[in-house]
Amino acid sequence: MKDIILVTLAAGNGTRMKSVIPKPLHKIAGQTILEHSFECVKNLLVKKKIIIASDDLITQGGNILNESQIVIQTEKLGTGHAVMQCIDDLYDNCNVVINYGDTPFVKPETIAQMLEKLNNGWDIIVLGSHIADISQKYGRLITNGEDLVEIIEYKDANEEVRASNFCNSGIIVANGKILKQSLAEIKPNNASGEYYLTDIIKIAKDSSHKATFVKCEENEVMGINSRIDLAIAEGHFQQILRKKHLENGVTMLDPASVYFSFDTIIENDVILENNIHFGLGVCVKNGTIIKAFSHLEKCKVGNNCVIGPFARIRPNTILQNSVHIGNFVEIKASELSEGVKANHLTYIGDAKIGEKTNIGAGTITCNYDGFEKHKTQIGSNVFVGSNTCFIAPINVEDSAITAAGSVISKNVPKNAIAIERSEQKNIENAAERFRKKKK
Ligand code: UD1
Ligand code: CA
Repeated sequence: MKDIILVTLAAGNGTRMKSVIPKPLHKIAGQTILEHSFECVKNLLVKKKIIIASDDLITQGGNILNESQIVIQTEKLGTGHAVMQCIDDLYDNCNVVINYGDTPFVKPETIAQMLEKLNNGWDIIVLGSHIADISQKYGRLITNGEDLVEIIEYKDANEEVRASNFCNSGIIVANGKILKQSLAEIKPNNASGEYYLTDIIKIAKDSSHKATFVKCEENEVMGINSRIDLAIAEGHFQQILRKKHLENGVTMLDPASVYFSFDTIIENDVILENNIHFGLGVCVKNGTIIKAFSHLEKCKVGNNCVIGPFARIRPNTILQNSVHIGNFVEIKASELSEGVKANHLTYIGDAKIGEKTNIGAGTITCNYDGFEKHKTQIGSNVFVGSNTCFIAPINVEDSAITAAGSVISKNVPKNAIAIERSEQKNIENAAERFRKKKK
């Protein structure tokens, strides 16, 4: 088996995105387009991943680029020129997979099919697709039986070629030696004055090498050039995610209104009502119900919980089994043990709450003093009266009670009742006197 080298083209300007963020770093379901584009080789043993990058991509790419060799393309002279930047990193006895940092949905099965053709004696294999809307400006594959004859770019094509709907995805699998030879001969003789990678087909054929193609579904070759494309890609990927979760045994009342991140984990027998947003890093265990209009990110939700409607679960929250979080309740960086209930109008931040504690309506952990965040520790079986404020740092021990309306600024011992409010005064008949005076 020859080594496989992945070359990902990601240096283009992405002008049509109108963004300060390089195109490959825009996200679909919370994951960059660039990372999506790596998915197609996830089952392969790849010897080397080379990313052809712009300076912006390097400065903004962070740890996404960690496992790859980065090659800078200073001048953007086209896709052929981009691959030429790493020509010295390719060797005769390797197979090369070229993909694009703006083409997120190519499937691993498709790449496997292309590599198989390489094993069957073809030298270059291009991934193509029949597209529904022929006004799209993809390059066109010119074929003759199994042979790929050449690729003509839309800009350089005549009416007859443009009328063909068999398009170039940009994904190429090639024999390293023949790729290197062909790359060296690309000339910028075309409508754009660019070095087209697609020209390697004709060049290789002229030296009696063999080129062919693999066909895939149109969605796989979707290339993202604008925000409109990005929105379409997002919609497409959300459909894939919804289907996956439904197939895994999740009930959804209105799948189209539920937004998932690429890494959302939901176990079976979870029920999702309508209009729910899953940000990055959410895991929900089975038997839980998430009611309408809830927003969750970077949190773990245990078995048999009831969340929402209108709940907000923020990063670094852990909800153990059978926790109930009701309407207009926000939880941040807190751990709620089994059976905790916080059903109405509450903010809990930087807190740890013991089993079966009941948090009354309107409870607030005052965790921030304008400079630092402080912790609230509440034991198990505590009854927190409505409209309690906890001035953190604070510790309320097991089985304590706080009286409604109390501002709790001192620790509360086990089994104690903490009450902090001024005594009530009733002025006899004053209401009647007040009304008379007003009339
Ligand atoms: C390219 C193909 C076209 C195909 C289409 C599919 C060529 C000449 N054309 O056109 O046949 O139908 O993709 O999406 O190959 N890039 C660089 N450096 C450059 C230029 C581009 O790294 O100098 C990168 C871009 O970042 C992008 C990819 O290469 O990820 C494709 O470039 P783009 O300009 O989008 O090519 P298309 O015009 O879409
Ligand atoms: Ca493109």
